[in-house]
Amino acid sequence: MNIIITGASRGIGRETAISLAAQRNNRILVVSRTESLLQKLSRETEFNNISYIATDLNESLRSPEGFLEQVDSHFKKIDILINNAGILIYKPFTDLNYSEIRLMTETNFMSPMLLIKALFSSFHRGSHIVNISSMGGFQGSSRYPGMSVYSAGKAALANLTESLASEYEKEGIFFNCLALGAVQTEMLKEAFPGYRAPLKAGEMAGFISWFALEGNKLFNGKVLPVSVSNP
Ligand SMILES: NC(=O)c1ccc[n+]([C@@H]2O[C@H](COP(=O)([O-])OP(=O)(O)OC[C@H]3O[C@@H](n4cnc5c(N)ncnc54)[C@H](OP(=O)(O)O)[C@@H]3O)[C@@H](O)[C@H]2O)c1
Repeated sequence: MNIIITGASRGIGRETAISLAAQRNNRILVVSRTESLLQKLSRETEFNNISYIATDLNESLRSPEGFLEQVDSHFKKIDILINNAGILIYKPFTDLNYSEIRLMTETNFMSPMLLIKALFSSFHRGSHIVNISSMGGFQGSSRYPGMSVYSAGKAALANLTESLASEYEKEGIFFNCLALGAVQTEMLKEAFPGYRAPLKAGEMAGFISWFALEGNKLFNGKVLPVSVSNP
């Protein structure tokens, strides 16, 4: 399988890359901003099957030709895209400035959307796009102060998933969205110091890996809550 994972320099994305790379026949391309961490990750695997592109997706997707050339040098076709990169600036709504709102909206919604569009010609019948959302963006879930713009971006990504699954059903391209509950990562620690999530990144990554490989046999256009806690 040819697999692209965004946001894999740390946290859930990194663990998902490691989990998928444990299968020799998977070739993983990871994308994040921090080159040193991606380089370290690419050297850790037994089968030497993780390569990387170090880029800020919010920048490179504005005019994606250069980025697409880099992707093309690794993969001509893509079996799985995991849109995992995300950012949380945990602040009351009225304290967020324009740059912070823009950064969260771009990272959590615009860039995953633009990446799907940019890579579309490399998808084929059976390709699976997995968008990583949050319980904060899941319809009807509890809402929390300080997470309004983050949650709204994640909700938009979930909605986009449903729309694209319907629009490209005939082409046989599958789109699903996982709305994750709390996972112990740097993102969570920075926002909620002292809170202990019920899941480690590796545990969630195991599920995401399985879902990316098998979930399109069971689901299409679904937004699935993946949570045992509230939040
Ligand atoms: N942890 C939780 O409790 C939780 C709950 C629900 C949903 N989620 C979602 O799960 C995903 C992973 O979360 P996490 O907790 O593992 O977060 P994390 O540790 O902060 O990791 C986020 C990843 O996204 C990358 N990234 C951020 N902005 C980027 C950009 N502009 N271009 C390219 N890469 C970028 C970061 O790498 P660089 O800094 O190197 O670019 C990093 O690898 C996120 O979408 C998050 O919203 C997490």
